Amino acid sequence: MPTYSVQAILQWRLQAQASAVAHQIPPYEVDVLLCELGGVERLSLVQKLPHELLNLSLSLPELAQCWQQRLDQRQPLQHLIGYTAWRQWTIQVSPDVLIPRPETEQIVDIVATTLKNSALPRTGHWVDLGTGSGILACGLAQLLPEATIHAVDCSEAALAIAQKNITQLGFEQQITLYSGNWWQPLTHLQGQVQGMVANPPYIPTAAIDSLQPEVRDHEPAIALDGGSDGLQAIHQVMHSAPDYLRPGGLWLIELMQGQAPQVLQWLAQHPAYAAPEAILDWSGTERFVLAWRRREDGSRETEFNN
Ligand SMILES: C[S@@+](CC[C@H](N)C(=O)[O-])C[C@H]1O[C@@H](n2cnc3c(N)ncnc32)[C@H](O)[C@@H]1O
Repeated sequence: MPTYSVQAILQWRLQAQASAVAHQIPPYEVDVLLCELGGVERLSLVQKLPHELLNLSLSLPELAQCWQQRLDQRQPLQHLIGYTAWRQWTIQVSPDVLIPRPETEQIVDIVATTLKNSALPRTGHWVDLGTGSGILACGLAQLLPEATIHAVDCSEAALAIAQKNITQLGFEQQITLYSGNWWQPLTHLQGQVQGMVANPPYIPTAAIDSLQPEVRDHEPAIALDGGSDGLQAIHQVMHSAPDYLRPGGLWLIELMQGQAPQVLQWLAQHPAYAAPEAILDWSGTERFVLAWRRREDGSRETEFNN
């Protein structure tokens, strides 16, 4: 195990932090790297004297090499350390999945609020389309312990990461993963789904080049690219969902700033949907759209009987 004095580590840290500032990267990332890859206990650098020795899991040149990838190639910190935090969990990530974003946590909160304010059952079949790392499926599984969760992705590599996260978080009995195109692997659930959530790819193709390099160069294109208007996947998911949702079932997606009005218009014009609404994220952006599978008798979605 490589051993260094506290002083040597602090010197390395200072230099790395200066390079972070020069590259407009938050300097705290150096500490994350030191702790997660170097095995340094967070408080030891301030509690120990400069001449005291610490064992590291990687040598300082190895850590420097890793940090250089962050600077030169703009590799996301989450790829270097292999995980990210999402809700109360540590989620494994790789270049095969979208790094879960904090705003996506709100989808689970919206489902929780909707359950409180409606007669939507907490049981039965629930679906996460485009599951990626599996976060939304896990969020639903925790919120709905008596429900069965079905999670779909077209990327086998993403499904492998989702499986690891699902197993790690102990939801493997409750969540089934499917490989395929949106609803296509779920034909056996037609007319039975209580609720669907999705965070589909929604960036317009032409806008991908202008994304920050961490996203553009390191996150999977299939998780980002929503076609020429960014709405291709949302449109597809919206059109096929009525065949799968129960009357009174919930349809909830995440989208990009500026896309909600178009999606609300499509939903309002579609005879199978009722009461579409946009929901703001924490920063006040219209980030989510919710709608209900219209009931055949036309009654409001919140009045349905189980
Ligand atoms: C924006 S990512 C969301 C991942 C995860 N749900 C999250 O919120 O972090 C979109 C996901 O949709 C998947 N995807 C793209 N096209 C798909 C398709 N035609 N059918 C199923 N999944 C698809 C991608 O592989 C990716 O994992």
